[in-house]
Amino acid sequence: MTVKALLLLLLVVEVSLTNAPFPEKEKDPKYWRDQAQKTLQNALRLQKLNTNVAKNVIIFLGDGMGIATVTACRILKGQLDGKPGEETELEMDKFPHVALSKTYNTDAQVSDSAGTATAYLCGVKANEGTVGVSAAAVRSKCNTTKGNEVDSVLKWAKEAGKSVGVVTTTRVNHATPSASYAHCVNRDWFSDNEMPKEAIEQGCKDIAWQLVHNIPDMEVILGGGRKYMYPKTTPDEEYPEDGKANGTRVDGLNLTQIWLRKKPANKVARYVWNRKQLVELKSQEVDYVLGLFEPTDLMYELDRNNVTDPSLSEMVKVAIEILKKNPKGFFLLVEGGRIDHGHHEGKAKQALHEAVEMDKAIGLAGSMTAEKDTLTVVTADHSHVFTLGGYTHRGNPIFGLAPEVSDVDKKPFTSILYGNGPGFKLFNGARENISSIDYGHRNYLAQSAVPLRMETHGGEDVAIFAKGPLSHLLHGVHEQNYIPHVMAYAACIGQNKDHCKSGATRSSMGTLTLASAIFSLFFMWPWD
Ligand SMILES: *[C@@H]1O[C@H](CO)[C@@H](O)[C@H](O)[C@H]1NC(C)=O
Ligand SMILES: *[C@@H]1O[C@H](CO)[C@@H](O)[C@H](O)[C@H]1NC(C)=O
Ligand SMILES: *[C@@H]1O[C@H](CO)[C@@H](O)[C@H](O)[C@H]1NC(C)=O
Ligand SMILES: *[C@@H]1O[C@H](CO)[C@@H](O)[C@H](O)[C@H]1NC(C)=O
Ligand SMILES: *[C@@H]1O[C@H](CO)[C@@H](O)[C@H](O)[C@H]1NC(C)=O
Ligand SMILES: [Zn+2]
Repeated sequence: MTVKALLLLLLVVEVSLTNAPFPEKEKDPKYWRDQAQKTLQNALRLQKLNTNVAKNVIIFLGDGMGIATVTACRILKGQLDGKPGEETELEMDKFPHVALSKTYNTDAQVSDSAGTATAYLCGVKANEGTVGVSAAAVRSKCNTTKGNEVDSVLKWAKEAGKSVGVVTTTRVNHATPSASYAHCVNRDWFSDNEMPKEAIEQGCKDIAWQLVHNIPDMEVILGGGRKYMYPKTTPDEEYPEDGKANGTRVDGLNLTQIWLRKKPANKVARYVWNRKQLVELKSQEVDYVLGLFEPTDLMYELDRNNVTDPSLSEMVKVAIEILKKNPKGFFLLVEGGRIDHGHHEGKAKQALHEAVEMDKAIGLAGSMTAEKDTLTVVTADHSHVFTLGGYTHRGNPIFGLAPEVSDVDKKPFTSILYGNGPGFKLFNGARENISSIDYGHRNYLAQSAVPLRMETHGGEDVAIFAKGPLSHLLHGVHEQNYIPHVMAYAACIGQNKDHCKSGATRSSMGTLTLASAIFSLFFMWPWD
């Protein structure tokens, strides 16, 4: 090979690196026009609103899944599939209706997961750190609980005879799930061991206790949090040698046993604590399942032991199989709870793989239910100070570098950065040169502007994606506590059911009057 040929080859390599390859078809304007026209046809079809009654309601809550996280998750999902990534459609992207949710708590501009869970589950904005109580309750003050309890859409569904469930990758008594069944002025009162003496004396109950007593006939509870169920010093089923996994309860109760005992004798209730037991359950024969797969939160999806622990999708599959047996329908809360934890730790890769797994679960739930009778909502409680930027080329690896080094310190930087968090590092008083660092590692800490042990939540709005009956009522910039009002209205449960009797399309055929039947025949488009 001549020197000239070698130079030419180098030039070609250089060019192909700087112009990241995008599909050839995108150069043709017809590609974009056809794609937009198809989207337009789909949008025109949406003008015929789905005003059916929502027999089933599913809410997927991506904890800390801000809009930047959704975008980065989309690119990652595409890249895992060998594509540039940006053009990928997430399962949530396919939902026809999208709105924004204002996430502040009554006492906080940048909110936490407890006050927000009270908003999007109980329909009432609340204080930071509190679950299932109104803003009249004061954080950590037990004696402000009584009289300030607010019920959740899960409870309304139960009262209407539906089956109900919670599935989470965190402990089942973590902030998000607990707002669906508990009333607690402190989100960290997982068991009585975590409560101050005064609160116990004043009669407040820990969240694990409330899980088995408040709504004892919840059909599905899947997640982590075993240790809060058992007496102090009980060795864990999976990690008997690990003292940190021991039971925590001071009151000596075995809550698993109480949960089992509270089930009707003629029903089948199963407690499981590993993946094998879960996937081998015969859903057709099981009425109630309590699955607790770790002493506290589940492992990150990237670190998960796939022999002992189920994925979020595997839990969702079993949950829906059990819940959908009820002819009156079901309500299901699914939390991708560790998106938030990955971000807090500055580990963007962990956070984004959690989000990809939740998106998989959304697709699975979609394939197990029908849009005509199931309202599905996907949203987040709050965002994080997570960004992606840096004029990256199309198809740039999502965990990769921006194409240019900084024009100030001449060092490279990753596209993904945090406003604050543990990724802040100085070497000899200057920003770290990451050239020789493995920034694609699952536990790499993306750089941040301000050092903090834990990266913080973000205060901007989050997205609400919705499909199914009355999903178009999620249509603008909403207060977060509006969400369960829509879910309840669509399902004809909760406080506001008048429309269920009068509206022709929203009552069952059996109760239609002749006149309204004729009216609907003439004026209503049939729904598929
Ligand atoms: C609640 O308890 C605190 C002590 O923790 C006391 O100071 C306060 O007066 C009590 N409030 C009510 C309403 O009982
Ligand atoms: C865990 O429980 C075991 C068995 O009861 C006990 O020997 C051990 O001290 C406990 N460890 C901790 C940290 O509580
Ligand atoms: C708790 O109850 C369950 C179900 O009855 C039982 O299998 C388990 O051994 C009990 N655990 C303890 C620590 O008593
Ligand atoms: C579990 O992980 C191993 C190693 O990655 C893989 O070979 C196996 O197929 C996985 N099993 C399941 C059930 O996902
Ligand atoms: C950063 O590190 C790379 C690789 O070690 C080196 O080539 C480059 O000069 C460094 N940049 C600065 C500004 O120190
Ligand atoms: Zn958080």
